[in-house]
Amino acid sequence: MTPPDLTTAISDLRRLIKNADRILPFTGAGISTECGIPDFRSPGGLWTKNRPIPFDDFMASRAMRDESWRRRFALEESFAKAEPGRGHRALATLYHAGKVPAVVTQNIDNLHQISGIAPQDVVELHGNTTYATCLDCARRYDVSWVKEQFDAASQHAPDCACGGYIKTATVSFGQAMPATAMQRAEELAKSCDLFLAVGSSLVVWPAAGFPLMAKRNGAVLVIVNREPTEFDELADLVVRHDIGDVLAPFIGN
Ligand code: APR
Ligand code: ZN
Repeated sequence: MTPPDLTTAISDLRRLIKNADRILPFTGAGISTECGIPDFRSPGGLWTKNRPIPFDDFMASRAMRDESWRRRFALEESFAKAEPGRGHRALATLYHAGKVPAVVTQNIDNLHQISGIAPQDVVELHGNTTYATCLDCARRYDVSWVKEQFDAASQHAPDCACGGYIKTATVSFGQAMPATAMQRAEELAKSCDLFLAVGSSLVVWPAAGFPLMAKRNGAVLVIVNREPTEFDELADLVVRHDIGDVLAPFIGN
């Protein structure tokens, strides 16, 4: 069902939230656009400007590793100054009210943690870009250190002392999904009674399988997104409005 206007959509959503005991928010890049972080597939989104660098290309080519880091450094200012938006704060309110056991996110920007959701209750399917790790020994590196080395080595990415490649702690296309996060997301999707997809085009698998999994296990499915998604027909409520406008009424109460 797609309510005719924002007011009706908010009151429909409020009723579903009130009747739910275990809400699972599932977030995508759209929840962070008002925080200054571009999404991927909207006009002007990251994939409208650059083709994603597949994991195999990252591993096979130093030039690709350098390009991958160049792109990450270009976003550093946006990531560094981003604050949680109205959507993040509304979900944090529901989390502190005991309605949300955890948030499953495709986002890598750490904003759910900054909004006050305990790190162990932010299930990051695509990792986190606020730090880097060695792909061989898993040693952790600060992005600022990598940047210093990169600039000192005329724009070449450093390798780990062990010889392994250093990458932001994110999951690239073609890279293995984090098993623990996937397992936890599955448990949460199967046990929630309201699945709240916020700000995702729901086109990237396996992440896009979770709304389906929740629906099949009896949950009410709500999609809050500016654009239509392939799951709209399946959803009990589709709210095609700005995320911040829709969720602001749920902040702090
Ligand atoms: N209000 C409502 N919807 C919004 C807003 C907003 N303020 N801003 C953006 N959106 C919507 C866009 O219309 C779009 O449909 O959010 C959606 C974001 O979709 P994508 O850009 O495809 O991002 P996402 O779904 O998170 O991508 C999934 O793809 O490339 C991979 O790893 C990357 O995690 C990412 C995954
Ligand atoms: Zn190493």
